[in-house]
Amino acid sequence: MKYRDSEGMDDAFFPISPFMIFPEAYGDFGIYLRKGRNYLLFTREGEQFSRKHKNILHENGIQEVYIESSQKPSYDRYLEENLSRVLLDDSIPLSVRSSVFYYASRMVVDDLFRNVEDLLDRPMLDKLTNVVRSGIRFLALPDAMKNIIPVMSRNFKVPTHCVHAFIYSAALFGTLGASEQENIDLGLGAILHDIGKSTLPKMVLYKRGRLNSEERELIRLHPAKGVGMCSQVPLGQVCLNSILFHHEKGDGSGYPAGLTMASIPLHARIVGIADVFDGLTSRRSFVDPISADRALSMILEPSTGLYDPNLLERFAEVLTQAGAAGLN
Ligand SMILES: [Fe+2]
Repeated sequence: MKYRDSEGMDDAFFPISPFMIFPEAYGDFGIYLRKGRNYLLFTREGEQFSRKHKNILHENGIQEVYIESSQKPSYDRYLEENLSRVLLDDSIPLSVRSSVFYYASRMVVDDLFRNVEDLLDRPMLDKLTNVVRSGIRFLALPDAMKNIIPVMSRNFKVPTHCVHAFIYSAALFGTLGASEQENIDLGLGAILHDIGKSTLPKMVLYKRGRLNSEERELIRLHPAKGVGMCSQVPLGQVCLNSILFHHEKGDGSGYPAGLTMASIPLHARIVGIADVFDGLTSRRSFVDPISADRALSMILEPSTGLYDPNLLERFAEVLTQAGAAGLN
């Protein structure tokens, strides 16, 4: 093992889960372990990451390995080339593939929120499309949802929430028999639905307690801001509708347009359900999560008229089949 001094190199490495290094794949990047302030070379560029390597990490309880930031483009290429194959490889247990899918999605969306400024660019869109396409195929496998739900974090953060909204929306929309392209467009809409929040101050996003009227107004701008941020890349209407209208409510009390149920585009109604369900079942700075069961009975209450009852019924079925309804 080769030592490399990390002094003054805080941004020189980025962490990934060992799940994100695939067996039988060669990467043009070295993999490092961290010891205090030092990074130790574990496997070198072009070296195959073998089962033996994996076992060493597992036996030592290592949850994170590191890659040099300068080699991030190589890692991104490696992920793009291997993700779809790994997710559909029957020889890998479904529970392991679920973690791969979840970590890959989170990594790409974290990247998006960290790096996007005013406009989403084409390379980032391509990375998101790869995750969404692979994820939709994976989520269609029997028992995929059953394996993913226990892996999902219960702590609310906007990028993680976007991944969750994608998972729930894709699982629900997958029951409607739409074309693969429409599923991808919906998936992109879900994963990007809160991109407009990337420019909001964290002290507003994660504020403990009630927002004042000025802060509420700021938050209410995020759907339109999100669509604006996507204006330089080719995205279909399904995707843009999902971003713009995911806060509309069936009784007209939502925003930005105050549409009533029949006028809210189908895809936005789906993302709206996924959005509120994840919000209720996640721990926020000011409120504890509630169980999936309680969240479902709250939003399933038909008298609220806020959500599409047929979609809610379908969503409840998806969650019950995935064994999520009993989750606390
Ligand atoms: Fe939102």
